[in-house]
Amino acid sequence: MGTIEVKGLTRAFKDTIAVDQIDLTIDHGELVVLLGPSGCGKTTLLRMIAGILEPTGGAICLDGRDITALPAKRRDIAMVFQSYALYPHLSVYKNLAFPLGVRRLPKAEVDRRVREVAASLEIDALLDRKPKQLSGGQRQRVAVGRALVRDPQAFLMDEPLSNLDATLRTQTRQELVHLHQRLGATFVYVTHDQVEAMTMATQIVVLNQGRIEQAGPPSQVYDSPASVFVAGFVGSPAMNLMPARVVGRDGFVELVGEDFTAPLWPGQTDPLEVTFGVRPEHLRLLDGPAGADVEFHLVVDAVENLGHEEAVYGRAEGARVCLRRPRDGAATPRGLSRVGLDRRHLHIFDRASGRRLEWVPDAPNQAEPTPPPPQHALAGVG
Ligand SMILES: Nc1ncnc2c1ncn2[C@@H]1O[C@H](COP(=O)(O)OP(=O)(O)OP(=O)(O)O)[C@@H](O)[C@H]1O
Ligand SMILES: [Mg+2]
Repeated sequence: MGTIEVKGLTRAFKDTIAVDQIDLTIDHGELVVLLGPSGCGKTTLLRMIAGILEPTGGAICLDGRDITALPAKRRDIAMVFQSYALYPHLSVYKNLAFPLGVRRLPKAEVDRRVREVAASLEIDALLDRKPKQLSGGQRQRVAVGRALVRDPQAFLMDEPLSNLDATLRTQTRQELVHLHQRLGATFVYVTHDQVEAMTMATQIVVLNQGRIEQAGPPSQVYDSPASVFVAGFVGSPAMNLMPARVVGRDGFVELVGEDFTAPLWPGQTDPLEVTFGVRPEHLRLLDGPAGADVEFHLVVDAVENLGHEEAVYGRAEGARVCLRRPRDGAATPRGLSRVGLDRRHLHIFDRASGRRLEWVPDAPNQAEPTPPPPQHALAGVG
């Protein structure tokens, strides 16, 4: 088992609250990715779970047992650092065997485990080398191996791939996913790489200023961001976010922008200042006769050829806007274009709170849009 439960976990440094009363349940066997901008508290949270940094408030439980006061080496949780933290003067073999030393295992058992782990990570030919004689990718494997050899309940990894080049990164990312599936252990993985988060995670936890903005499966976080912050942070290029108002008029709730009015659903509502969002891949150029549910003008000022598609940039509705489309025929000309989107691709957020307004496109007589409560626990989601 390896269920990690964090309750009201807080860490204050002198004048910063790095982690602010976080509640989170990470079920056994999950691969949870902590995602968020620099300084949002990812490493601090991980170090507290590992037991190498003391919380200033709250509790951590492993399989229902309170481990808040337990020292790191007795936690049955292994951590892999961004810097790898290998012992430079020890061979790969000794680096791998080191965590077993504290357990006083018989020599033959240590040898068996080291060789087994080295073989599984394909570093068995490197056992006699020192870390400085290894490539970045090989060092990274040794660091993972050193965590593996302990056979812990949970693995904590802090940006373990950030020192690798793009190709090796992709390859190692896939290896880590296989490793996770093979071991069936709990992984908590820190990154600010969008692709890593989307492709590796069973659950993504988006952090902002020490708090959880949203926790859920990648598709949920991407398709239904709970706040403007998540909408703008998850996805690359980012979701387009533009100001608008929701108003009730003649029995219809409408979205009203600078340049358009679009009916949302039949009903009434008080006027509300909102931010509306649309992902670049859901915005299309209306260069033929066909229209769209929501249409407005875009002043195109840059077009990037990305090979398989083009990215079109410009200004619309008082904001910077990006649109992605397949490259068929001539490149999109600069200047005034008309663009549009389907209602089902519209994201609407309350401007004041930043929270998502839940509504179902094409469902009649919806209640007045109300921001949902923040949802923090991972257990039972998805
Ligand atoms: N030892 C420390 N003393 C004082 N402040 C600290 C300390 N460690 C972290 N902080 C502060 O706590 C906040 C969170 O830091 P943390 O390292 O957890 O961020 P992070 O999300 O891991 O960022 P990054 O993506 O840059 O690694 C930051 O504002 C940081 O400056
Ligand atoms: Mg960090």
